[in-house]
Amino acid sequence: MRIIKVKNYEEMSRKAANIIAAEISLNPRTVLGLATGSTPIGTYERLVELCNTGDIDFSQVTTINLDEYYGLEPTHEQSYRYFMDKHLLKKININLENTHVPNGKAPDIEAECKRYDDLIQKAGGIDLQLLGIGHNGHIGFNEPSDEFIMDTHCVTLKESTINANSRFFNNIDEVPKKALTMGIKPIMQARRVLLIASGDDKKEILKKALSGPVTPSVPASILQLHKDLIVVTPLDI
Ligand code: PGA
Repeated sequence: MRIIKVKNYEEMSRKAANIIAAEISLNPRTVLGLATGSTPIGTYERLVELCNTGDIDFSQVTTINLDEYYGLEPTHEQSYRYFMDKHLLKKININLENTHVPNGKAPDIEAECKRYDDLIQKAGGIDLQLLGIGHNGHIGFNEPSDEFIMDTHCVTLKESTINANSRFFNNIDEVPKKALTMGIKPIMQARRVLLIASGDDKKEILKKALSGPVTPSVPASILQLHKDLIVVTPLDI
């Protein structure tokens, strides 16, 4: 594990974007695993800038997002497809057909989970997975549990996650109670994982994830076993 300590959120975002840019320069056909939430917004802003200046060419890149709320249309302003289009995908020179987010409106959820796992496999797995971390240690929507769930699955969100995400909705009742999430396997099989975290409210959980016991009650703790984990954070951990 490499921990890159930075001064603040802005520097974290620049460093993370530069790591992603370097990956794409070395392999223009990079399969990027992407995340949503407040944490990566600065990274995406920087990636858009690097694309505009011609420093990154996304034309052959594939993106595969971690998760999506169950029951939200892709056009819903709080859907993760909408988030990705708004913050990154519609602002860069990527072929939108090569960008993937689970379909939260799929009529057959089991079939959708299988489709997503097949899609990851057909893409040859993920080259670089960008991750944030939830206050309860979740990665994607892999919530604390008795076991690590390997494949894409439908998850009932924990109260703490619903509370944390209610800031984006008019009220807490509007927050979907379920989500589709990539499982632990493709994350751990990603050739490189880039974890970013900032804000004092993330300090304890980040410390626990990176130096506490590896346990499904802190899903991010599995990352301690990843062979190429880069953590970029301003937090003293
Ligand atoms: P945040 O979410 O970036 O909005 O804090 C991170 C996460 O829940 O994975």
